[in-house]
Amino acid sequence: NNKKISIAIDGPAAAGKSTIAKITAEKLSYIYVDTGAMYRAITYKALKSQIDIQNEKEIEQLLLETSIELKPSNSGQLVFLDGEDVTEKIREEQVTNLVSTIAASGPVREEMVYRQQQLGKDGGVVMDGRDIGTKVLPHAELKIFMLASVDVRAERRHLENTRKGYSSNLEKLKEEIELRDKLDSEREISPLRKAEDAVEIDTSFLSIEEVAAEIYALAQERMEDK
Ligand code: CDP
Ligand code: CDP
Repeated sequence: NNKKISIAIDGPAAAGKSTIAKITAEKLSYIYVDTGAMYRAITYKALKSQIDIQNEKEIEQLLLETSIELKPSNSGQLVFLDGEDVTEKIREEQVTNLVSTIAASGPVREEMVYRQQQLGKDGGVVMDGRDIGTKVLPHAELKIFMLASVDVRAERRHLENTRKGYSSNLEKLKEEIELRDKLDSEREISPLRKAEDAVEIDTSFLSIEEVAAEIYALAQERMEDK
């Protein structure tokens, strides 16, 4: 079956979106777009260039001068900022703590949504983020809203950090996730919200394989309908 659909996966931090989106894209030979990585990349650049983030003109100028590329690799997706591999750097705490503020800015959202829509314009894409089903790909054939309890999400991130050999504090992680969820849900422009036609999946008690299988089955259904 070669009818290419678009799949939007939204939800709060560490619900399992990118893990599942990557697997789904691989299974279907679709493009995977991690939109969070794009917001992280521009945040990293804003930190490095020490611009005044309250100043919209400075932010607009920065956006004009910024190229962000997402490239698939064996070890997952690589993120390039102006040609430099920043895959690891954009996950650092400093970036994580500022990203929701930068992502709330009007010019930043406008530009990122435009770039994401360009990447998704031909279909055959799995995109994950916060506003994919509501704003970036409102006509996506399959929309998923992925949830998990905050305790489970913090625990998963903690495990992930520990596995990678990073220092990690469970309580701090939980606070960081709760704060980011709050900022992302309460911002004015395209807040984190379940699209009306999204399928909700609570992954709190599901394995990665179970979630991936459920989404794959839904994708097959939507392809038949197309
Ligand atoms: O993977 P994690 O849950 O830590 O977050 P992410 O997907 O990398 O996204 C980082 C941040 O980017 C989010 O907390 C949002 O503030 C912002 N974001 C957004 O505003 N809109 C999107 N479509 C994706 C991410
Ligand atoms: O992209 P998002 O921030 O929503 O989450 P993620 O980075 O894909 O997943 C966060 C962590 O939860 C990863 O370490 C996944 O391996 C793990 N995970 C899990 O244990 N069980 C699931 N059903 C989904 C994800």
